[in-house]
Amino acid sequence: MSNNTNRRDFIGYSFAAVAAVGGAASLYGMKQVWDPLPSVLAGGFTTIDLTALKAGEPETFTWRGKPIFVLKKSSDMDDSTRDLIVGSDRYTVAIGLCTHLGCIPAWKKGTWKCACHGGEFDASGHQTFGPPPRPLDLPPFEVKENTIVLGNEGPEYQKIAQTLKA
Ligand code: FES
Repeated sequence: MSNNTNRRDFIGYSFAAVAAVGGAASLYGMKQVWDPLPSVLAGGFTTIDLTALKAGEPETFTWRGKPIFVLKKSSDMDDSTRDLIVGSDRYTVAIGLCTHLGCIPAWKKGTWKCACHGGEFDASGHQTFGPPPRPLDLPPFEVKENTIVLGNEGPEYQKIAQTLKA
């Protein structure tokens, strides 16, 4: 009787141990499948060196498949509440897609001009002509020393985003 009980207990504990190991292995396997690949995670962030930019000449970067305009403003360009200020310099950071129907505007003589329907945006990204209903959109970014990292919502981003909502 006592031997039977011990044997039954042993089999029960063995099943429980096998089930626990199997469950843990299954959870680990599911986590591996669900987690984004390291290459995908790295692709979510783009770092831009602001010191490499020339005043008055916007550069276009790519972040998550979207064009991102970054303009270091020259002294003759108007200040704006959406300017990103780093040190003594002012920058416009914007998603480079027209807010009308999504074409990519081109920089011409101090203005981003959209060839699709004639929309225009000034050096601060504000719409100044044509059908675009709002300024160029602001991508999430974080300032780290002299770089911006696209993909993180840092305090500078939040401050500018607030002014755009007002
Ligand atoms: S898509 Fe730019 S003006 Fe229409």
